[in-house]
Amino acid sequence: MAGQKNYDIAVIPGDGTGPEVVEEGKKVLAAAGRRFDISFNFKTFDYGGERFLKTGETITDAGIDELKKYRAIYLGAIGHPDVAPGILEVGLLLKLRFSMDQYINLRPVKLYPGVETPLKGKGPEDIDFIVVRENTGGLYTGHGGVSRKGTPHEIATQIMVYDRQMVDRCLKYSFELAVQRKKEGKPGKLTLVNKTNVLTYVADLWYRAFMEMAREYPGIETDYNHIDAACMWMVKNPEWYDVMVVNNMFGDIITDLGAMVQGGMGIAAGGNINPSGTSMFEPIGGSAPKYTGMNVINPLAAIEAARMMLKHLGEDRAASAIQEAVAYTCTKIRDLGAGKMGYSTTEVGDMVAGHVARS
Ligand code: IPM
Ligand code: MN
Repeated sequence: MAGQKNYDIAVIPGDGTGPEVVEEGKKVLAAAGRRFDISFNFKTFDYGGERFLKTGETITDAGIDELKKYRAIYLGAIGHPDVAPGILEVGLLLKLRFSMDQYINLRPVKLYPGVETPLKGKGPEDIDFIVVRENTGGLYTGHGGVSRKGTPHEIATQIMVYDRQMVDRCLKYSFELAVQRKKEGKPGKLTLVNKTNVLTYVADLWYRAFMEMAREYPGIETDYNHIDAACMWMVKNPEWYDVMVVNNMFGDIITDLGAMVQGGMGIAAGGNINPSGTSMFEPIGGSAPKYTGMNVINPLAAIEAARMMLKHLGEDRAASAIQEAVAYTCTKIRDLGAGKMGYSTTEVGDMVAGHVARS
């Protein structure tokens, strides 16, 4: 047996309810660590709205370089009511994703037993897919500009930028994920989602690259959906999906739809992944300022983010134990919404941690 594994994890609790949910995630990680002989060395960083209001700084390049030394980053939430929209999103969250080249945003959509979905007649056997959202390109690159600003003839552009290499590396990750899932007994099907009927340049690039790469993966079933149709099928026939791969902007939109399908923001988590660098894991729900400090926010999304982090680090057994504990907890709590769980934030964290310890 190899000795105890040790991981240096940078923790950014961030704004609003971020610190509360991150605390529960750390509690669960610690429980998994004791059970599976893993130790975590957490270092907390105070990036977020409060720090920005005090210093006028989101994060510096030196700050980014420091974070790159960690095996992974565990993030709570970014967003502060006293900071103008866009400053923290672009200056902190997107800056972290871009400067660490976290080019995959991995967002599982899985309905746990006992969780209510708004989709009538659908259950856990129907809703178990994962969205690979391209995370550093497209409309998010900030290419574009404005002229004649403030006049009736103002022109503004924002350009969907992709090059072949960005598309290929995202597709590669997605095909490999489909292979992985097939080994785990899932369908092993990859659906490209885009808008080839209108985006005749950039969607066509994705489509051709996808078809070419598909030839290298004969064991993987492939499909293509237009983004608008995908929104219909995600609601009507979610069982058709296993792995979806989608550009940055469309992926942003459909993963919020996915979050609702799996029971809401209380459970939805994501990983910003650089397969050969530092990756960052976060609940995708945001800072929920009105629930701050009340011990009512659901920590399961942050706990799910912690689980994804362990899986990413190769700690499969610990990740599975957390998943089982989350599934168990979902059958115990009344509702996934903040203040409606029938338990407090810390009690839900205790329940998951307790189950992990007994696993
Ligand atoms: C998300 C968020 C971010 C995004 C915002 C806050 C910049 O909506 O993580 O989905 O658009 O990626
Ligand atoms: Mn979003």
